Amino acid sequence: MVTAHDDFAAVDTYLIDHLVHEDQALADTRLSSAETATPGIDVTANMGAFLALLVQMTGATRVLEFGTLAGYSSIWMARAMDDDGAVVTLDIDPAAAQVARRNFHAAGVAERIQLRIGPALESAHALIDEGTHPFDLVFIDADKANTPHYLEASLTLSHPGTVIVIDNVVRSGAVLEQDSADPDIQGIRTLMELIQADERLSATALQTVGLKGWDGFLLARVN
Ligand code: SAH
Ligand code: DHB
Ligand code: MG
Repeated sequence: MVTAHDDFAAVDTYLIDHLVHEDQALADTRLSSAETATPGIDVTANMGAFLALLVQMTGATRVLEFGTLAGYSSIWMARAMDDDGAVVTLDIDPAAAQVARRNFHAAGVAERIQLRIGPALESAHALIDEGTHPFDLVFIDADKANTPHYLEASLTLSHPGTVIVIDNVVRSGAVLEQDSADPDIQGIRTLMELIQADERLSATALQTVGLKGWDGFLLARVN
């Protein structure tokens, strides 16, 4: 049996071709991640469409995102909202933020997206200190080592029913490496233990294969 990465990618492309409409602004945004320090690590088009469907299915009007990059996932989520919707997205990299802002304008969602530059944990704590309204949906997709801290801050910024999506929790199976020297892997493992022990959350995680290899995302609901 052949189960090479090429086959996963080919099927992903087939599914995207048939099911997901990526317009020019989104395609340009995806390509523009080449102008950032970490090209190509945005979500795939079918994951973007999944996030958009979640926004619509939950009726989210306030979305918080950790990790903007070129704004690809932000645009998918912002477009799934009405004009009264708001996405607050956090990124540490001013150069990426400049690319993202350009993309938000081109995609017609600049009014709906607030981009805060700085370490995401500081920005999240600033949101808490400002007494900002709770968010309906949170997408955590920044540096993986800090994911446990992002989850804690997200819980403070949540209400019962808030949906939390966390990207990249499988990492080609590296999540099983308990002695891993990689702080990203340890971050994901700590995250799993936090959620396991936290009665405020109902959660699951699904493995994915496709254009970005073998990974997975975690889906949680604040009770
Ligand atoms: N969600 C985006 C991809 C984000 S990539 C999409 O799917 O389109 C991860 C981003 O996290 C990068 O842009 C990087 O600059 C940012 N990042 C890394 N460390 C960070 C930190 N400590 N605080 C905030 N952002 C950080
Ligand atoms: C990396 C980060 C991501 O958010 C992702 O989806 C894939 C890879 C990375 O840091 O390598
Ligand atoms: Mg990711």
